[in-house]
Amino acid sequence: MALLEADSGSFRDPLSRVVVADDSVYRLFSEMGESDRVAVWPFVESQIQLGTVIESELMAVEDHVAPATSILRHPKLDLITFPFEWSFQMLKDAALLQLDLVRAGALAGVGVKDASSYNIQFVGTTPIFIDVGSFQPRKRSDPWFGYQQFCELFLYPLMLKAYAGVSFQPFLRGSVHGIPVDQAKGLLGPLRLKRQRGRFTHVLFHALAQAKLADSDEGVAEDVAESGMKTELLLATVAKTRKLVESMDTGLDESLWSDYSDRGHYESRSLAEKAAFVDDSLAGAGALGHVWDVGCNDGMFSRIAANHADVVLAMDADELVIDQLYKQLRTETSVEANRITPLVVDLSTAGGGVGWRGSERPGLFHRSRPDAVIYLAVIHHLALTFNIPLQQQLDLLADSTENLVIEFPDENDQMVQKLLRNKRPGIYSHYTLDNFERLLGERFEVRRRETLTGGSRTIFFATRTPRTAS
Ligand SMILES: C[S@@+](CC[C@H](N)C(=O)[O-])C[C@H]1O[C@@H](n2cnc3c(N)ncnc32)[C@H](O)[C@@H]1O
Repeated sequence: MALLEADSGSFRDPLSRVVVADDSVYRLFSEMGESDRVAVWPFVESQIQLGTVIESELMAVEDHVAPATSILRHPKLDLITFPFEWSFQMLKDAALLQLDLVRAGALAGVGVKDASSYNIQFVGTTPIFIDVGSFQPRKRSDPWFGYQQFCELFLYPLMLKAYAGVSFQPFLRGSVHGIPVDQAKGLLGPLRLKRQRGRFTHVLFHALAQAKLADSDEGVAEDVAESGMKTELLLATVAKTRKLVESMDTGLDESLWSDYSDRGHYESRSLAEKAAFVDDSLAGAGALGHVWDVGCNDGMFSRIAANHADVVLAMDADELVIDQLYKQLRTETSVEANRITPLVVDLSTAGGGVGWRGSERPGLFHRSRPDAVIYLAVIHHLALTFNIPLQQQLDLLADSTENLVIEFPDENDQMVQKLLRNKRPGIYSHYTLDNFERLLGERFEVRRRETLTGGSRTIFFATRTPRTAS
């Protein structure tokens, strides 16, 4: 049996907890948890068949890996991502999956006791529900226990973007609990409330009622049971909420980087040279598990990487380009397209963990160790717009990966000149090809180097220099 490690994000449910091994994840049920599991098992199996819930295998008692009444084994997913890294459509698809499970559960006499967006993961671009411990037997009078959490972690974040044009990712990164109703009220104030013709009022009304119940000294479950939320009422609420979620749209089709696909500033020859260089370098890098494409934009190079890797994290700080890439990939069925997961990541602020002790939901650098990073035409943005010095960027890359494909637009490049135009002369004098090559050589061994046609962009394939033991 491989070494077991308690999952840092699994402690809030007293009835089951998760431990992680090399190639599997185990869900350990307490006695009470096991009695729920047995009751909901036919429903869970039917959802596994549909592909909405993660595969789950009940282990024989003698195979128990740790003290528990029963144990489920799940495949270990190749990649764990969090809602603050998802685009609007990703959160929306996750919300719809959550709602569909609540509905299907209610019809089968199964309740969903919470509604954490962290219970959903993306395999490529397909959302899948991973927390089998969320299901419990449902009494006909049970309320939708996860409603408030659904609002905080799905609905309000989506509304924020759809109705106010405000990105939800920073809010979700700020708190694992999402956006509380009071905050939502403030953010989506009376003006917008009016504009949405009562849709928001409906949501607020329910959320406030739930919050009140949660605050009460009385036995909440009994109270609600008495007032009785019959299955029909629950189904109607879910249907209404689903319609609301489905209707939401960012209304955006333009952002700073959304028109980049034509890559007009590259001569067509240099773009072909760049693509061939990336392809050849990754082909020569050996078996690749994770590959990061930092500043992926429309994913042109993520697609090349997907021919050589198990998983490609296509990251960009521009959420619209990620949303568009996600929507495009969702329409594709090739094996390669399914290896790419688009993520909203601003590398200049990424990496921190959130939740209890900052480790309940660990930062990206702890969840993915890339075998290769492609870092194409992005270094100048981080250096000149975000003031992350070349040295620091190369330190991060050297700490993260063995194989690096990196493009350096030099000081004569028109895009670099543009970024420098409004800067005080002299303060970026270190931004030169010579300096970059020196810093790269201190951390990596350059295997290949090519100056692209046009002359101001040089691309490198470099492998990490073995570290000497100190
Ligand atoms: C010049 S484009 C390069 C696109 C692609 N890598 C290529 O070579 O064709 C730069 C991309 O980097 C992204 N970007 C800029 N700053 C970023 C940051 N701090 N973190 C992640 N992506 C960033 C932009 O949104 C844009 O899509």
